[in-house]
Amino acid sequence: MAKDRPLKRVAILHLAVLGAACLSFSSTSKADDLTGAQHLVSITRGGLLYDNWYGQLGVDAPKKTHPSYPAAGKQKGASTWRCKECHGWDYKGDQGAYSKGSHFTGIVGIRNMTHGSLDKISKILTDSKHGFGDLIPKDSLAVLAHFVAHGQVDMDEFIDRGTKKALGDAEHGERIFQTTCARCHGKDGKEINFKTDKNPEYIGTVATANPWETLHKIRNGQPAVPMISMLAFDSQSHVDILAYAQTLPVK
Ligand code: HEC
Ligand code: HEC
Repeated sequence: MAKDRPLKRVAILHLAVLGAACLSFSSTSKADDLTGAQHLVSITRGGLLYDNWYGQLGVDAPKKTHPSYPAAGKQKGASTWRCKECHGWDYKGDQGAYSKGSHFTGIVGIRNMTHGSLDKISKILTDSKHGFGDLIPKDSLAVLAHFVAHGQVDMDEFIDRGTKKALGDAEHGERIFQTTCARCHGKDGKEINFKTDKNPEYIGTVATANPWETLHKIRNGQPAVPMISMLAFDSQSHVDILAYAQTLPVK
Protein backbone atom coordinates (compact mmCIF):
# COMPACT_ATOMS: atom_id res chain seq x y z
CA MET A 1 0.00 0.00 0.00
CA ALA A 2 1.34 3.42 -0.89
CA LYS A 3 2.38 5.60 2.00
CA ASP A 4 1.24 9.13 2.64
CA ARG A 5 0.74 10.73 -0.77
CA PRO A 6 -0.03 14.38 -0.12
CA LEU A 7 0.31 15.36 -3.76
CA LYS A 8 -2.54 13.19 -4.91
CA ARG A 9 -5.04 15.99 -4.52
CA VAL A 10 -2.79 18.29 -6.52
CA ALA A 11 -2.59 15.65 -9.24
CA ILE A 12 -6.36 15.30 -9.36
CA LEU A 13 -6.69 19.06 -9.48
CA HIS A 14 -4.26 19.11 -12.38
CA LEU A 15 -6.31 16.58 -14.28
CA ALA A 16 -9.42 18.60 -13.57
CA VAL A 17 -7.76 21.77 -14.82
CA LEU A 18 -6.46 19.97 -17.90
CA GLY A 19 -9.95 18.58 -18.53
CA ALA A 20 -11.52 21.98 -18.10
CA ALA A 21 -8.91 23.44 -20.45
CA CYS A 22 -9.84 20.85 -23.09
CA LEU A 23 -13.51 21.74 -22.80
CA SER A 24 -12.94 25.46 -22.81
CA PHE A 25 -10.89 25.69 -26.02
CA SER A 26 -12.39 28.60 -27.86
CA SER A 27 -9.97 29.93 -30.45
CA THR A 28 -9.88 28.42 -33.92
CA SER A 29 -6.39 26.88 -34.11
CA LYS A 30 -6.23 23.36 -35.44
CA ALA A 31 -4.78 21.95 -32.22
CA ASP A 32 -7.88 23.17 -30.41
CA ASP A 33 -9.98 20.49 -32.04
CA LEU A 34 -7.98 17.70 -30.42
CA THR A 35 -9.68 15.58 -27.82
CA GLY A 36 -8.61 12.88 -25.37
CA ALA A 37 -5.64 10.81 -26.51
CA GLN A 38 -4.86 13.16 -29.42
CA HIS A 39 -4.62 16.02 -26.95
CA LEU A 40 -1.94 14.17 -24.96
CA VAL A 41 -0.05 13.06 -28.07
CA SER A 42 0.05 16.65 -29.31
CA ILE A 43 1.35 17.87 -25.94
CA THR A 44 4.10 15.25 -25.81
CA ARG A 45 5.20 16.09 -29.37
CA GLY A 46 5.40 19.71 -28.27
CA GLY A 47 7.35 18.68 -25.17
CA LEU A 48 9.91 16.80 -27.29
CA LEU A 49 10.31 19.85 -29.53
CA TYR A 50 10.69 22.11 -26.47
CA ASP A 51 13.56 19.84 -25.40
CA ASN A 52 15.35 19.74 -28.77
CA TRP A 53 13.36 20.64 -31.88
CA TYR A 54 16.16 20.08 -34.43
CA GLY A 55 17.01 16.67 -32.97
CA GLN A 56 13.37 15.64 -32.90
CA LEU A 57 12.72 16.91 -36.46
CA GLY A 58 15.94 15.32 -37.73
CA VAL A 59 17.12 18.55 -39.37
CA ASP A 60 20.57 20.15 -39.28
CA ALA A 61 21.23 21.99 -36.02
CA PRO A 62 21.76 25.75 -36.41
CA LYS A 63 25.47 26.58 -36.35
CA LYS A 64 25.52 30.15 -35.07
CA THR A 65 24.44 31.21 -31.61
CA HIS A 66 20.80 32.38 -31.44
CA PRO A 67 20.65 36.19 -31.91
CA SER A 68 18.52 36.56 -28.73
CA TYR A 69 20.94 34.54 -26.62
CA PRO A 70 22.64 37.06 -24.31
CA ALA A 71 26.32 37.81 -24.90
CA ALA A 72 27.00 37.18 -21.22
CA GLY A 73 25.61 33.61 -21.45
CA LYS A 74 28.03 30.67 -21.28
CA GLN A 75 26.50 28.45 -23.98
CA LYS A 76 27.01 28.84 -27.70
CA GLY A 77 25.99 27.35 -31.03
CA ALA A 78 23.14 24.89 -31.59
CA SER A 79 22.03 24.42 -27.98
CA THR A 80 21.18 28.14 -27.68
CA TRP A 81 18.28 27.45 -30.10
CA ARG A 82 16.61 24.95 -27.75
CA CYS A 83 13.58 26.33 -25.87
CA LYS A 84 14.88 24.77 -22.68
CA GLU A 85 18.19 26.65 -22.95
CA CYS A 86 16.50 30.04 -22.61
CA HIS A 87 13.36 29.11 -20.64
CA GLY A 88 14.56 26.22 -18.47
CA TRP A 89 13.55 22.61 -17.84
CA ASP A 90 11.28 23.96 -15.09
CA TYR A 91 9.79 26.53 -17.50
CA LYS A 92 10.72 29.27 -15.03
CA GLY A 93 13.65 30.91 -16.82
CA ASP A 94 15.34 33.49 -14.62
CA GLN A 95 13.11 32.50 -11.69
CA GLY A 96 14.03 28.81 -11.81
CA ALA A 97 17.05 26.50 -11.86
CA TYR A 98 18.68 28.65 -14.55
CA SER A 99 18.57 31.74 -12.30
CA LYS A 100 22.28 31.05 -11.79
CA GLY A 101 25.10 28.86 -13.06
CA SER A 102 26.37 27.97 -16.54
CA HIS A 103 22.88 28.10 -18.09
CA PHE A 104 21.97 31.54 -16.74
CA THR A 105 20.47 33.89 -19.35
CA GLY A 106 18.22 36.24 -17.36
CA ILE A 107 15.38 35.41 -19.78
CA VAL A 108 11.81 35.03 -18.48
CA GLY A 109 10.09 31.67 -18.15
CA ILE A 110 6.97 30.55 -19.99
CA ARG A 111 4.81 29.98 -16.89
CA ASN A 112 2.68 33.06 -17.59
CA MET A 113 1.59 31.54 -20.89
CA THR A 114 -0.01 28.49 -19.31
CA HIS A 115 -3.61 28.30 -20.62
CA GLY A 116 -2.64 31.10 -23.00
CA SER A 117 -4.07 31.52 -26.48
CA LEU A 118 -2.51 29.15 -29.02
CA ASP A 119 -2.57 31.80 -31.71
CA LYS A 120 -0.77 34.26 -29.46
CA ILE A 121 1.91 31.71 -28.53
CA SER A 122 2.43 30.68 -32.18
CA LYS A 123 2.93 34.35 -33.03
CA ILE A 124 5.58 34.66 -30.29
CA LEU A 125 7.49 31.70 -31.78
CA THR A 126 7.71 33.39 -35.15
CA ASP A 127 8.41 36.93 -33.86
CA SER A 128 11.75 38.66 -34.46
CA LYS A 129 13.07 37.62 -31.02
CA HIS A 130 12.52 33.91 -31.76
CA GLY A 131 12.66 33.63 -35.57
CA PHE A 132 11.44 30.00 -35.76
CA GLY A 133 9.06 30.65 -38.69
CA ASP A 134 11.53 29.52 -41.35
CA LEU A 135 13.03 26.70 -39.28
CA ILE A 136 10.15 24.84 -37.68
CA PRO A 137 7.21 23.61 -39.80
CA LYS A 138 3.72 24.96 -39.02
CA ASP A 139 2.34 21.75 -37.51
CA SER A 140 5.32 21.57 -35.16
CA LEU A 141 4.85 25.22 -34.14
CA ALA A 142 1.22 24.34 -33.37
CA VAL A 143 2.13 21.46 -31.04
CA LEU A 144 4.81 23.61 -29.40
CA ALA A 145 2.14 26.20 -28.65
CA HIS A 146 -0.09 23.42 -27.38
CA PHE A 147 2.67 22.26 -25.05
CA VAL A 148 3.26 25.78 -23.73
CA ALA A 149 -0.47 26.32 -23.10
CA HIS A 150 -1.42 22.90 -21.72
CA GLY A 151 1.66 20.70 -21.20
CA GLN A 152 3.78 22.59 -18.70
CA VAL A 153 3.39 22.23 -14.93
CA ASP A 154 4.63 24.12 -11.89
CA MET A 155 7.57 21.88 -11.00
CA ASP A 156 7.91 23.47 -7.57
CA GLU A 157 4.81 21.45 -6.62
CA PHE A 158 6.75 18.24 -7.30
CA ILE A 159 10.43 18.97 -6.58
CA ASP A 160 11.89 20.67 -3.52
CA ARG A 161 14.01 23.46 -4.98
CA GLY A 162 16.44 23.56 -2.07
CA THR A 163 17.25 19.85 -1.82
CA LYS A 164 16.30 18.82 -5.41
CA LYS A 165 14.36 15.92 -3.84
CA ALA A 166 11.26 14.69 -5.64
CA LEU A 167 8.16 14.97 -3.45
CA GLY A 168 6.98 11.52 -4.44
CA ASP A 169 6.50 7.96 -3.25
CA ALA A 170 9.56 5.96 -4.37
CA GLU A 171 7.84 2.60 -3.65
CA HIS A 172 5.05 3.35 -6.08
CA GLY A 173 7.62 4.78 -8.51
CA GLU A 174 9.61 1.54 -8.34
CA ARG A 175 6.59 -0.48 -9.50
CA ILE A 176 6.18 1.72 -12.57
CA PHE A 177 9.92 2.00 -13.28
CA GLN A 178 10.56 -1.74 -13.11
CA THR A 179 7.68 -2.56 -15.46
CA THR A 180 8.31 0.21 -18.02
CA CYS A 181 11.61 2.12 -17.91
CA ALA A 182 13.68 -0.94 -16.93
CA ARG A 183 12.93 -2.64 -20.29
CA CYS A 184 15.33 -0.18 -21.90
CA HIS A 185 17.30 1.33 -19.04
CA GLY A 186 17.82 -1.84 -17.00
CA LYS A 187 16.80 -2.68 -13.43
CA ASP A 188 19.29 -0.19 -11.97
CA GLY A 189 18.98 2.39 -14.78
CA LYS A 190 22.52 1.63 -15.95
CA GLU A 191 21.80 -0.25 -19.18
CA ILE A 192 21.95 2.99 -21.21
CA ASN A 193 24.91 5.30 -20.66
CA PHE A 194 24.10 8.85 -21.88
CA LYS A 195 27.72 10.00 -21.86
CA THR A 196 31.12 8.36 -22.23
CA ASP A 197 32.66 5.26 -20.61
CA LYS A 198 35.07 7.51 -18.79
CA ASN A 199 32.38 9.89 -17.59
CA PRO A 200 29.20 7.81 -17.48
CA GLU A 201 25.75 9.24 -16.90
CA TYR A 202 22.74 7.09 -16.08
CA ILE A 203 19.15 7.72 -15.06
CA GLY A 204 20.25 7.90 -11.42
CA THR A 205 22.86 10.52 -12.30
CA VAL A 206 20.46 12.77 -14.23
CA ALA A 207 17.56 12.35 -11.78
CA THR A 208 19.77 13.43 -8.90
CA ALA A 209 21.65 16.27 -10.62
CA ASN A 210 18.78 17.62 -12.73
CA PRO A 211 15.38 16.46 -11.45
CA TRP A 212 13.59 19.12 -13.59
CA GLU A 213 15.05 17.74 -16.82
CA THR A 214 14.20 14.21 -15.73
CA LEU A 215 10.60 15.13 -14.90
CA HIS A 216 10.22 16.83 -18.29
CA LYS A 217 11.49 13.66 -20.00
CA ILE A 218 9.35 11.31 -17.87
CA ARG A 219 6.29 13.29 -18.97
CA ASN A 220 7.17 13.75 -22.65
CA GLY A 221 9.91 11.27 -23.58
CA GLN A 222 13.35 11.77 -25.13
CA PRO A 223 13.72 13.47 -28.55
CA ALA A 224 14.70 11.40 -31.58
CA VAL A 225 14.58 7.99 -29.84
CA PRO A 226 11.60 5.70 -29.22
CA MET A 227 11.43 6.40 -25.48
CA ILE A 228 7.90 6.32 -24.06
CA SER A 229 5.95 9.26 -22.62
CA MET A 230 4.14 8.80 -19.30
CA LEU A 231 1.72 11.67 -19.84
CA ALA A 232 -1.34 9.39 -19.72
CA PHE A 233 -0.43 8.62 -16.09
CA ASP A 234 -1.25 11.23 -13.44
CA SER A 235 1.28 13.83 -12.31
CA GLN A 236 1.69 12.00 -9.00
CA SER A 237 2.97 8.92 -10.83
CA HIS A 238 5.53 11.03 -12.70
CA VAL A 239 6.96 12.39 -9.49
CA ASP A 240 6.86 8.91 -7.90
CA ILE A 241 9.01 7.59 -10.78
CA LEU A 242 11.37 10.53 -10.27
CA ALA A 243 11.59 9.79 -6.53
CA TYR A 244 12.56 6.19 -7.31
CA ALA A 245 15.01 7.28 -10.04
CA GLN A 246 16.77 9.37 -7.39
CA THR A 247 17.51 6.17 -5.43
CA LEU A 248 19.34 4.56 -8.41
CA PRO A 249 23.14 4.47 -8.71
CA VAL A 250 24.73 7.67 -10.04
CA LYS A 251 27.84 5.93 -11.39
C1 HEC B 1 17.80 32.38 -27.40
C2 HEC B 1 16.82 32.44 -26.36
C3 HEC B 1 15.43 31.93 -26.61
C4 HEC B 1 15.06 30.70 -27.13
C5 HEC B 1 15.95 29.60 -27.68
C6 HEC B 1 13.63 30.64 -27.03
N1 HEC B 1 13.14 31.79 -26.48
FE1 HEC B 1 11.21 32.16 -25.96
N2 HEC B 1 11.73 34.02 -25.29
C7 HEC B 1 13.01 34.54 -25.31
C8 HEC B 1 12.96 35.91 -24.82
C9 HEC B 1 14.15 36.84 -24.72
C10 HEC B 1 11.61 36.18 -24.49
C11 HEC B 1 11.05 37.46 -23.91
C12 HEC B 1 10.65 38.30 -25.05
C13 HEC B 1 10.11 39.66 -24.61
O1 HEC B 1 10.21 39.99 -23.42
O2 HEC B 1 9.58 40.34 -25.48
C14 HEC B 1 10.87 34.96 -24.79
C15 HEC B 1 9.51 34.80 -24.58
C16 HEC B 1 8.80 33.63 -24.79
C17 HEC B 1 7.41 33.42 -24.46
C18 HEC B 1 6.51 34.45 -23.80
C19 HEC B 1 6.68 34.45 -22.30
C20 HEC B 1 5.86 35.51 -21.62
O3 HEC B 1 5.42 35.28 -20.48
O4 HEC B 1 5.67 36.57 -22.21
C21 HEC B 1 7.09 32.14 -24.82
C22 HEC B 1 5.74 31.44 -24.66
C23 HEC B 1 8.27 31.55 -25.39
N3 HEC B 1 9.30 32.47 -25.36
C24 HEC B 1 8.34 30.25 -25.87
C25 HEC B 1 9.48 29.69 -26.46
C26 HEC B 1 9.52 28.38 -27.07
C27 HEC B 1 8.37 27.39 -27.11
C28 HEC B 1 10.78 28.21 -27.56
C29 HEC B 1 11.34 27.06 -28.35
C30 HEC B 1 10.68 26.77 -29.64
C31 HEC B 1 11.54 29.40 -27.22
N4 HEC B 1 10.70 30.28 -26.58
C32 HEC B 1 12.89 29.56 -27.46
C33 HEC B 1 14.15 33.89 -25.69
C34 HEC B 1 14.20 32.60 -26.21
C1 HEC C 1 11.82 2.03 -25.38
C2 HEC C 1 13.01 2.27 -24.61
C3 HEC C 1 12.92 3.27 -23.46
C4 HEC C 1 12.03 3.30 -22.43
C5 HEC C 1 10.87 2.35 -22.16
C6 HEC C 1 12.43 4.40 -21.59
N1 HEC C 1 13.53 5.02 -22.12
FE1 HEC C 1 14.50 6.62 -21.32
N2 HEC C 1 15.71 6.69 -22.93
C7 HEC C 1 15.75 5.76 -23.94
C8 HEC C 1 16.78 6.12 -24.89
C9 HEC C 1 17.16 5.34 -26.14
C10 HEC C 1 17.36 7.31 -24.41
C11 HEC C 1 18.47 8.14 -25.07
C12 HEC C 1 19.82 7.65 -24.73
C13 HEC C 1 20.88 8.58 -25.25
O1 HEC C 1 20.57 9.66 -25.75
O2 HEC C 1 22.05 8.21 -25.12
C14 HEC C 1 16.67 7.64 -23.18
C15 HEC C 1 16.95 8.75 -22.40
C16 HEC C 1 16.44 8.97 -21.14
C17 HEC C 1 16.80 10.08 -20.30
C18 HEC C 1 17.67 11.21 -20.75
C19 HEC C 1 18.98 11.40 -20.15
C20 HEC C 1 19.76 12.52 -20.77
O3 HEC C 1 20.52 13.11 -20.06
O4 HEC C 1 19.59 12.83 -21.96
C21 HEC C 1 16.11 9.93 -19.12
C22 HEC C 1 16.17 10.82 -17.89
C23 HEC C 1 15.30 8.74 -19.25
N3 HEC C 1 15.52 8.19 -20.50
C24 HEC C 1 14.43 8.25 -18.29
C25 HEC C 1 13.50 7.25 -18.52
C26 HEC C 1 12.46 6.87 -17.57
C27 HEC C 1 12.32 7.43 -16.16
C28 HEC C 1 11.70 5.93 -18.19
C29 HEC C 1 10.43 5.28 -17.67
C30 HEC C 1 9.34 6.20 -17.40
C31 HEC C 1 12.27 5.68 -19.50
N4 HEC C 1 13.35 6.51 -19.67
C32 HEC C 1 11.78 4.76 -20.42
C33 HEC C 1 14.93 4.65 -24.07
C34 HEC C 1 13.86 4.36 -23.25
